[in-house]
Amino acid sequence: MDNSSLHLRYQSIRDRSVALTHPLSPEDCCAQSMMEASPAKWHLAHTTWFFETFVLEPSEKRFKPYNRAYRELFNSYYNGVGDQYPRPNRGLLTRPSMEEVLAYRSVVDQCVLDLIDKDALDAKQRALMTLGLNHEQQHQELLLTDIKHLFSFNPLDPVYDDSQHSVGQNPPPPMTWMSYSGGLTKIGYDGDEFCFDNELPLHLSYLHDYQLASRLITNGEYLDFMEDGGYENPLLWLAEGWDWRQRHALTHPLYWCWKDGAWFEFTLHGLIPLDMFSPVVHVSYYEADAYTRWSEARLPTEIEWEHAAKYHPVEGHLAESGLFHPRTVQDSGSHQFFGDTWEWTQSSYSPYPGYRIGIGAVGEYNGKFMVNQYVLRGGSCVTPSSHIRPSYRNFFPADARWQFSGIRLAKMPD
Ligand code: AVJ
Ligand code: FE
Repeated sequence: MDNSSLHLRYQSIRDRSVALTHPLSPEDCCAQSMMEASPAKWHLAHTTWFFETFVLEPSEKRFKPYNRAYRELFNSYYNGVGDQYPRPNRGLLTRPSMEEVLAYRSVVDQCVLDLIDKDALDAKQRALMTLGLNHEQQHQELLLTDIKHLFSFNPLDPVYDDSQHSVGQNPPPPMTWMSYSGGLTKIGYDGDEFCFDNELPLHLSYLHDYQLASRLITNGEYLDFMEDGGYENPLLWLAEGWDWRQRHALTHPLYWCWKDGAWFEFTLHGLIPLDMFSPVVHVSYYEADAYTRWSEARLPTEIEWEHAAKYHPVEGHLAESGLFHPRTVQDSGSHQFFGDTWEWTQSSYSPYPGYRIGIGAVGEYNGKFMVNQYVLRGGSCVTPSSHIRPSYRNFFPADARWQFSGIRLAKMPD
């Protein structure tokens, strides 16, 4: 990428993060709803810290930190950089103010853009820039998931986006099975643009013949599982999932709410009547797994998913629509591989054969999380379209529900 394109790309991605906070008040931006979620203000500061620490510090001859305290305050988990302010306490950071964080962003942006314009970045530093921009896009998605989670606790049902959310009137095309033949297949990133280290190396993997559902599971289909006693039948659940369901007395997906004799769903458009035709979202791995057992099917492996997704264009309902809620699929030719909801796979998040962890502090980016998490594929309605690709591996623990996670069925051919 030439310098002027990099300059523009940097500006547009950085600007979008700030734009996402425009519907929010400074109070909204400061609160933290749970340990796993971060305040919007923290997301804006941490992504800036990433550029300051990994791009400016090694590139500037007379580097001076913007504020020494930020090194620890906005370090998420990089032990190679130093200590970190405790994650569960991020919501206590009433200082720096939102205004100060925006000023921090402007200063770092000016320094980064100067380095780009002066052509002062070598290949390694340019690679870190690209990583920083992809990191920023991940945090844009997290900012939206975290705000939704925060707002869901508020009895005023806050509205993040007040554009009218139209509930789909038409049912989706009936679910059918798409067949794929087994054999050896290449898995991993196969291109010369950016990918994360966890998508490498490209390697051969063996597949048995398999089938995937032609679309995501809908709210209506998930409600059938609930009404059939899905949450009350331990035989449908993994032991750990059943314990989790019991401990939290769960009976429905995260943002569903039963009110005045009907189901509603909390969304970034506020509380809306549950749309039976749109994809079920905000389910944990445990719930997704129980649903598949009830359906006499299973979750796809990440290898099956990627092999199938490579036959489909990287198109779908992603963040650009600005809807920030999954949509009913209308066209039987569109299979929702990309966008709408992330799809749980039954694959543990683990290294591909020959995986090599990056050198230096950024080596901590992905590799050290390869335990006790599952891979999700395909992006969601809050993922920027320039951020997703068939080989992209997202990952969360089995009990995580606050991401836009949904269900696609898989099975062996009959
Ligand atoms: C890939 C979404 C699990 O949330 O920690 C953000 C993304 N990595 N900063 C996460 C990430 C570094 C990551 N997930
Ligand atoms: Fe981060």
